[in-house]
Amino acid sequence: MSDSASSAQTFRAIDVIRKKRDGGELSRFEIGALIAAYTQGSIPDYQVSAWLMAVVLRGMTRGETAALTDAMLRSGEVLDLSGIAAKKVDKHSTGGVGDKTSLVLAPLAAVAGVTVPMISGRGLGHTGGTLDKLEAIPGFHVNLPVPEFRRVLEVCGCAMIGQTAEIAPADRKLYALRDVTGTVESPYLICASIMSKKMAEGIDALVLDVKTGSGAFMKSEKDAAFLAELMVETGERMGKRTVALITDMDQPLGNMIGNALEVVEAVDVLRGGGPQDLRDLCLELAAWMLHLGGISKTVAEGKQESAKLLASGKALERFREMVELQGGDPGVIDDPKTLPQARHSQQVLSAKDGYIASLQCEQVGTACVILGGGRERKEDSVDPAVGIVLHRKVGDRVGVGEPIATIYYNSGSRVERAQQLLEESCGISDSPPSEKRLLIHRVIGN
Ligand code: URA
Repeated sequence: MSDSASSAQTFRAIDVIRKKRDGGELSRFEIGALIAAYTQGSIPDYQVSAWLMAVVLRGMTRGETAALTDAMLRSGEVLDLSGIAAKKVDKHSTGGVGDKTSLVLAPLAAVAGVTVPMISGRGLGHTGGTLDKLEAIPGFHVNLPVPEFRRVLEVCGCAMIGQTAEIAPADRKLYALRDVTGTVESPYLICASIMSKKMAEGIDALVLDVKTGSGAFMKSEKDAAFLAELMVETGERMGKRTVALITDMDQPLGNMIGNALEVVEAVDVLRGGGPQDLRDLCLELAAWMLHLGGISKTVAEGKQESAKLLASGKALERFREMVELQGGDPGVIDDPKTLPQARHSQQVLSAKDGYIASLQCEQVGTACVILGGGRERKEDSVDPAVGIVLHRKVGDRVGVGEPIATIYYNSGSRVERAQQLLEESCGISDSPPSEKRLLIHRVIGN
């Protein structure tokens, strides 16, 4: 009997679930067999959900994490972009609220001369997803077949798609399952999910934005540093230059949360404006992309170049080109009213005078999911129009009765709960809170 025939007989999903449940270390074979069987559809969601929960509770060794990343990467094809002369560099975030930097960074880095083959995800837990944001643009296709993805890349230097049946299919299925089974918050699963799809892109280098704070999956800086090191180590093991920036997610990034609203804010940044925190983070991440892509000698030079490309409108024009090439209506760039609009709005008013001391960020993200901006079950569809606009951020003064936020909604039965969560999320104090840094730490590969 051949090895593979005997392997096929010895693998049983139930044994792998029980072993992990009991704290055992899984072999490369067990992990590979589980991922292959799930990708092919020969084991059901309920068994994989149980295994994911066991991983969340029991963790994984470095060896298991590497085996999982490799198995997920091998579930599909690895793009060969060696025919494109420019350096291929991507950026990926571990997930945040109001984080629309990818929409800015892909065209910005592309116009500077880097090729950006970006494979993104949908909303995950309380966090937003780049694919859901892009799909708020009427007609935009995130499911391009590989030849079309390659064509868009060759024409405009950036393309943004989701995991497909060909590229990272294991992550496509696991990601959707983790979203609705409370199994996102594991550094090992996050590492394998992100690194398997990024390594499938055929990139030379990767910039990771590892979030920490109340809106992140890694709430503490220590946990975020652990995840950053795990991912940088994985990237370097696979021969890619990898840098992780640990950044603050203790309040939403920018002022707008919700799919169509976030497209509007990303376009504002591409036009040279936008809120300071969002713009600063985009410039920091873009600077690293340009530096790793060999466009700028130093990170500081990369930042200057990126700021120029935003101010000149060139990055915005590249975004317009990409939207058009991917079937989207570029008219949304000139007239945001052509994006999906919610039918109703309601303000959240301050109950007292003072300074905004905190905006519990996971609650703000959950409020957006409750409005319909994210999924609670796999089969849910996302409402692109709903969301929240913040009128105050941490450190701002607010008077009694003044608006802290506006909620945009379509369903009256959801708005009360969202309003309550937003009110609870907002801490007001008599004195201003101490200022937090947006960029907390860097982990730089060799
Ligand atoms: N982004 C991903 O692609 N996967 C995760 O697990 C978390 C964030």
